[in-house]
Amino acid sequence: MPTVAVIGDGQLARMMHTEAIELGLKPRVLAGSYDASAAQVFGDVVIGDYKNLDDVQNVCDGATAATFDHEHVPNEFLDELIAAGVSVQPQPQALIFAQDKLEQRRKMKEIGAPVPEFAPIESAEDAGAFFESVEGEMCLKATRGGYDGHGVWFPGTRGEAENLVAELLDKGTPLYAERKVDFDRELSAMVARTPSGEVRAWPVVESRQRDGICVEAIAPAPGMSEETAAYCQELATKIATELDVTGVLAVELFAKDGEITVNELAMRPHNTGHWTQDGCVTSQFEQHLRAVLDWPLGSVETTAPYTVMVNTLGAETEPAEPMEERVKEVMRQYPDAKVHLYGKGHRPGRKMGHVNVSGTDLDTVLERAKAAADIIVGGTGAAAN
Ligand SMILES: Nc1ncnc2c1ncn2[C@@H]1O[C@H](COP(=O)(O)OP(=O)(O)OP(=O)(O)O)[C@@H](O)[C@H]1O
Ligand SMILES: [Mg+2]
Repeated sequence: MPTVAVIGDGQLARMMHTEAIELGLKPRVLAGSYDASAAQVFGDVVIGDYKNLDDVQNVCDGATAATFDHEHVPNEFLDELIAAGVSVQPQPQALIFAQDKLEQRRKMKEIGAPVPEFAPIESAEDAGAFFESVEGEMCLKATRGGYDGHGVWFPGTRGEAENLVAELLDKGTPLYAERKVDFDRELSAMVARTPSGEVRAWPVVESRQRDGICVEAIAPAPGMSEETAAYCQELATKIATELDVTGVLAVELFAKDGEITVNELAMRPHNTGHWTQDGCVTSQFEQHLRAVLDWPLGSVETTAPYTVMVNTLGAETEPAEPMEERVKEVMRQYPDAKVHLYGKGHRPGRKMGHVNVSGTDLDTVLERAKAAADIIVGGTGAAAN
């Protein structure tokens, strides 16, 4: 059976591993250290740095396909691997649109996907001019390297925008700005696509953020018209096809009534797809592996009317009660809850795991998932209501 090399050692690689071993694949990971989330579970671990070409070549040696748990491997390395005959999925000419948000905005506009007004920001003057042109409804973003809301700012005044930009440019942060979108909720449209061009779209999900971090996802997005759902799935399919994305693609969307705007793209399994582990015939991790190997894709039928995923983010202080006890408490109170932990040490706000609950009544499912997650993070499980 094929060896699949995964570059990156976070929870996404870790959860790919679970599916890889079920499929009888030989998963190998490039990890920064043996205690990294993914390195704890892979049998075949190459310790190294994804910013070092030798290390990246080593992990790919003899692999049928190479893929990622993040988008930050330098594209020059990937070009070299491809030249040496490695099947890198997704390929750098697609990845660039997940690595660089300004390039992504330009590409989305080119293919006719709905995006907010945007402009590159290269000086404080640019910032001031953009602020005026959008009547103060300005969102400033780092073009590269942002995550969990780090790299996203909403300056309130023209002066604030100018000062912030001067400060960030000084630190060497490349920037662009876009109009602050007025939305009711955020959605995520996920698809998987193979190098041969087969595409499967999961049901569209509602993702709820707090302080720029995804806190929960509801599948399928409640109250969505069939028309809007189909539109979002077609949009994600079009983006995957036109950008030649392989593996899993997540398209983060803003929605106001039926009006949809693209936020950003991720070319890998995504937090808003974790529900598929317990609420769908084929999980995003299995589908990603099938896609990068150019194998037939699996059914994306749901296995319950609703599945809710709640992230367990590290609390302000580490709970005194050991994690084992908290997990057992969830099992006692919520036997329907599926706990997924990433083996990460405690840090406030850190994504340390998630809980999935499926069922028929959305309010009940949401309440149970939140309560179970609350116990994992050290609460009493009562905070959910
Ligand atoms: N143009 C915008 N208008 C309004 N809100 C926005 C805009 N862009 C981003 N946001 C808000 O900020 C959040 C984070 O933005 P974005 O997804 O671009 O950043 P990120 O840090 O890369 O996120 P992720 O955690 O998904 O990697 C969005 O989920 C949304 O809530
Ligand atoms: Mg985002």
